[in-house]
Amino acid sequence: MFTIDELKRHYLFTDDDAALLASLQPLAEANKHAITDRMYDYLFGIPETAAFLQDDAVLQRLKTSHQDWLVGLFSGKYDNHYLRKLEKIGLAHVRIGLNAHFVNCAMNFIRQALVDLIRETNADREMRRKLTNATEKILDANLDVMSASYLEEELKKEFVSHRLESKLIRATERFTYGLNLILVLALAGVSISVVAQFGWDLVHIFQGNIEKGVLSALGTLLILWMMIELLGNEIKNLKGGKFNILVFIGVIIVALIREILISTLRHDALETQAFLAGTLLILGIVYYLVSRSQKDGTGH
Ligand code: HEM
Repeated sequence: MFTIDELKRHYLFTDDDAALLASLQPLAEANKHAITDRMYDYLFGIPETAAFLQDDAVLQRLKTSHQDWLVGLFSGKYDNHYLRKLEKIGLAHVRIGLNAHFVNCAMNFIRQALVDLIRETNADREMRRKLTNATEKILDANLDVMSASYLEEELKKEFVSHRLESKLIRATERFTYGLNLILVLALAGVSISVVAQFGWDLVHIFQGNIEKGVLSALGTLLILWMMIELLGNEIKNLKGGKFNILVFIGVIIVALIREILISTLRHDALETQAFLAGTLLILGIVYYLVSRSQKDGTGH
């Protein structure tokens, strides 16, 4: 935000301008009702602004505020107190949720009304020009300060939500990264026990229980192979790669194949074996369909 002196300098607003504006105050005082009444007619014609003018008490308060502001434009005294007042007006509009666009429109309406008034009441062309210039400067500076409140509010909102968003995203990313790490560690742990199981299966073979040992060892190896796939997939995922659902279907298939191997060893009932075989068939079809859709998706 600028100080009043900076604002005056930037708008080339001189003491002469202030004096010219002060000379217009009686005219503004005499016309404040007419101008603001016309402005309300105009604002009532726009549904978005009419919505703010429905309450009679608010309207009465508003008329006084808007008329005081209009007369205040021509006080001839523009200090930091005046600047604070303008900032407060800007904030009042932000608070009620009025779109800044309509403040601009209303300012344009007021500008035309004032310029018309100056033209009608001043015969001298040079004087008309000076009075109009001074009025335009003070109106533009008013709009400038009022709009700045909107911008600041927007920036604040954006700043807060942006910071919150990126913090949230970062926290979630860390959390999923942590979960993935735990998963990798758990997978590694399970893989070690699978290796132990494989060792146990070999012991069976050496103990003479060859059929049981070989089939179990085969099943365990299948599981180990799948664990390697799963771990590889997880590590890829940790490095930012894509999640591959196919690996998970593969794991279920391998687990099922192992179950079938054991089931034959156990000489389970035919229905149980048929059920397992049926499930395997369905999983096989799902695997095929998913892998086909993945290939289509990558355009191969
Ligand atoms: C030239 C543009 C405008 C100026 C200079 C202006 C001026 C003011 C002022 C001085 C206040 C009192 C602020 C305070 O309480 O500190 C105010 C409040 C308000 N203005 Fe404006 N205004 C303008 C445009 C509009 C427009 C287009 C609307 C749309 C309907 C509007 C609706 C309101 C409302 C609803 C309040 C709050 C009333 C209350 O509850 O007290 N203003 N405005």
